[in-house]
Amino acid sequence: MNLGVPLPSVSLAEENPFKIFIRENQKDLVDSIVDVLEDRLRKRLSIETPKPLGLATGRTMEPIYLALVDRLKSWEAADLEKLLSGWLSFNLDEYVGLKDSDPHSFGSYMTHYLRSPLHLTSEQVRLPNGGNVDPYQEASSYRSQLQEFGGISLQLLGLGTNGHVGFNEPPCDLNASCRVVSLSTSTRQQNAFSFGGDLDLVPKNAITLGLKEILSAEEIHLIVIGISKAQILDRVLTSPPSVGLPASWLKSHKRVFLWVDKAALTAKN
Ligand code: GLP
Repeated sequence: MNLGVPLPSVSLAEENPFKIFIRENQKDLVDSIVDVLEDRLRKRLSIETPKPLGLATGRTMEPIYLALVDRLKSWEAADLEKLLSGWLSFNLDEYVGLKDSDPHSFGSYMTHYLRSPLHLTSEQVRLPNGGNVDPYQEASSYRSQLQEFGGISLQLLGLGTNGHVGFNEPPCDLNASCRVVSLSTSTRQQNAFSFGGDLDLVPKNAITLGLKEILSAEEIHLIVIGISKAQILDRVLTSPPSVGLPASWLKSHKRVFLWVDKAALTAKN
């Protein structure tokens, strides 16, 4: 297989379960991902009750949501209306202690990037309620809601610099389901940018879908952009699945797509 770019230390041989798509830069990558999302969303129009979409937050997703909204606005009005009236998505995670209305919450992020521009309701774009005084009860209720709708159809995923997906921090077993988790200092540092750079403001706990719900999705799209992810991506590509590297469990999924720009493939061996 010739991917036309410098490869990480292992050969991405046939047995590598990721279907890998490499693009020159972020813009080309985003365009290609939005092509696929648009295709899947069009297909949903002919399904009576499609399963929920699985959405992620983080800087990686920002240009994707912006481009997706632009693309959807070019749809015929009737198709767009049908898509939006049947929209149901479940986000991966939310910080414990932050209400949906808190500007630092993932709820606010989703309102900004998706709910407001597409006029979707909070019933349609679901996240765990970080403001629930009982986060354990909230995690259990969120897990049940997703089960009720039959699990995720298409799951979007970013990659944490310590190998987390959602907020599944290492160590994490592949059977872990939706739950309350403690965030590592490195993850809180990675996300401090959206709290004005103040680590003390970043919550210490979160509610996240687990690897169990993620791996039950019909298809998974892991998106990795930029040189800051090169090292962790190299580990994901070269390591066997293990609790120490949550993203490595994705290798056990039958339909997992890995979208990378060239910068993310520049790890020194
Ligand atoms: C965050 C989120 C993940 C996200 C990942 C990568 O902590 N919980 O859902 O995908 O880390 O974030 P970014 O895209 O900002 O690099």
